[in-house]
Amino acid sequence: MIVEQTLELSDRPLSVRAREFIDAGRSRFKSVQVFGFVPSDYELAWRVLDGLPRSTLCEWGSGFGIITGLAEMLGFEACGIEMSADLAVASRCLLKDFGLSASIETGDYLNIDQVADYYYVYCWPGQTIATETRFESIAPKQAKLLICAGQSDIRCKTRELIDLE
Ligand SMILES: C[S@@+](CC[C@H](N)C(=O)[O-])C[C@H]1O[C@@H](n2cnc3c(N)ncnc32)[C@H](O)[C@@H]1O
Repeated sequence: MIVEQTLELSDRPLSVRAREFIDAGRSRFKSVQVFGFVPSDYELAWRVLDGLPRSTLCEWGSGFGIITGLAEMLGFEACGIEMSADLAVASRCLLKDFGLSASIETGDYLNIDQVADYYYVYCWPGQTIATETRFESIAPKQAKLLICAGQSDIRCKTRELIDLE
């Protein structure tokens, strides 16, 4: 059973580098046509990530790798998993162009085990149950799931305390 927790948002503005990174990513969206790709609200994600203790983060369904890259810029050890080979290539390129070293694995996060303190995912509503079930089955006990309920609606979920005892 997982429960929702409140998120503390940072008020720190985007760094110049983060602004340029997001803009560069957005300018490349049309170069890869993947039906399932819808971008997060990266300005909001920056405030969410900046409000968290630095640790490890895995972006499930990493698209252009922008959340992954922002997390690395903020001091997280970050990585992504993306099932579209074209998006995985494009995201590796974007990260490299900004001197970022986060890795992007091509594959299905429902099958690839990746240990992290935070998992970030923006999945289709129909994938929510499978994604939360996956989180419960493979994530470390204290891990948190940052899951978008919409483009600008990032929720934080974790296991219920009773499950952790
Ligand atoms: C709504 S988009 C979000 C992309 C990115 N996280 C962002 O916020 O900009 C969902 C992404 O997840 C990918 N995806 C969907 N199901 C997946 C799965 N089971 N394993 C890996 N990637 C998946 C899609 O190809 C798409 O790039």
